Amino acid sequence: MDIVLSKENELIRQSLREFAAREIAPKAAEYDRSREFPFENFRKCAEMNLTGMMVSESQGGAGMDTISYVLAIEELSRVCASTGVIISVNNSLYCHPVEKFAREEIKKNLLAPFARGEKIGCFGLSEPDAGSDPSNMRTTAVRDGDHYLLNGSKIFVTNGLGADAAVVFAVTDATSRHKGISAFVVEKGNSGFRIGKQERKLGITCSGSVEIIMEDCKIPATQLLGKEGEGFKIAMNTLDGGRIGIAAQAVGIARGALEESTRYSQERKQFGKKISDFQAIQFMLADMATEVDAARLLTYRAAWKKDQGERYSLEAAMAKLFASEVAMRATTKGIQIFGGYGYMNDYPMERFFRDAKVTEIYEGTSEIQRIVIASHLLKD
Ligand code: CAA
Repeated sequence: MDIVLSKENELIRQSLREFAAREIAPKAAEYDRSREFPFENFRKCAEMNLTGMMVSESQGGAGMDTISYVLAIEELSRVCASTGVIISVNNSLYCHPVEKFAREEIKKNLLAPFARGEKIGCFGLSEPDAGSDPSNMRTTAVRDGDHYLLNGSKIFVTNGLGADAAVVFAVTDATSRHKGISAFVVEKGNSGFRIGKQERKLGITCSGSVEIIMEDCKIPATQLLGKEGEGFKIAMNTLDGGRIGIAAQAVGIARGALEESTRYSQERKQFGKKISDFQAIQFMLADMATEVDAARLLTYRAAWKKDQGERYSLEAAMAKLFASEVAMRATTKGIQIFGGYGYMNDYPMERFFRDAKVTEIYEGTSEIQRIVIASHLLKD
């Protein structure tokens, strides 16, 4: 395994760190409060070629590797975790399955503009009774000549509010459980497609999480991804990549907690000295720094494995599991170091804490990641 960053990776990291500090950080607290979808951030990320990073250049993407992608998601999430997940979903949960599984003839309209960041994509898998167990979904798709008619709804769809199209999953054969699920691209303009409830959330407040409702939603049959019945595997393959993005998001949030805490501990004085002079604070910072590095290395390893073209489900699950739990521990310690100020929303720490929690939940809870990891350990 060779995960030393290349010169190109280092340059990308440096320029994205400056970009995030200059363009994304100043408005992060405001977006968190207003809960408005940050279209302006998406546009700025598009100008930096961050919206279709791993999509080939011939399809409108930047043709970069997965290591560059995790560097970008870490840097964005360091300052604004909502922007981090918005960009991650467009890259991993929309552009990836469309590039890999869509028919060539639909890519001009349904991939290239999304990879270039002129349009926004999202991913609809979860339903009220199908979260950790997506094979229990109720949304149906029935073939009708050269169209499909979709009926059902999807919940907790990140980016849904701002999205122009969604990758959605529906049952095409109710007798076959996961083998009867198929994947489609549905456009906002398709008849019978509408946005339902807009969620108000604990963290990542402006990432536009909504319900998507499809009522006799008519889409061309060419918008089927892969073949009928392949939808469950397409969802799993897509989530493997998505989980690397969420691991990188968690690393970014945890690093934010570490850097802000390190700085604050050298400014804040109690008992006549800087609180960083107290060993209790030093030990917390030392643990945070060690865990952030470990989480980042697991994330790089998963990205590297993906770039080798090998199966990386195990490495992605390990990276997401560990990094998300590190993000919770680091932000909890961060609030403790800030004391009462950490609890107030004048400082970013309480936002980091609220934003961290969802990384243990979406794109597969920590319990699901443990199931994936154990299944690799125990297979014969
Ligand atoms: N890649 C390709 N194929 C895979 C796969 C993968 N990573 N994982 C499983 N499969 C295949 C299996 O090989 C099996 O194939 P066969 O039928 O040919 O044998 C098939 O899929 C079924 O596998 P399992 O029997 O293991 O399936 P399961 O029903 O037991 O579920 C699970 C496994 C890992 C628990 C899975 O259901 C899972 O990941 N659940 C969590 C779902 C999730 O992450 N939801 C988040 C929603 S997205 C989101 O968060 C919204 C957002 O906007 C951010």
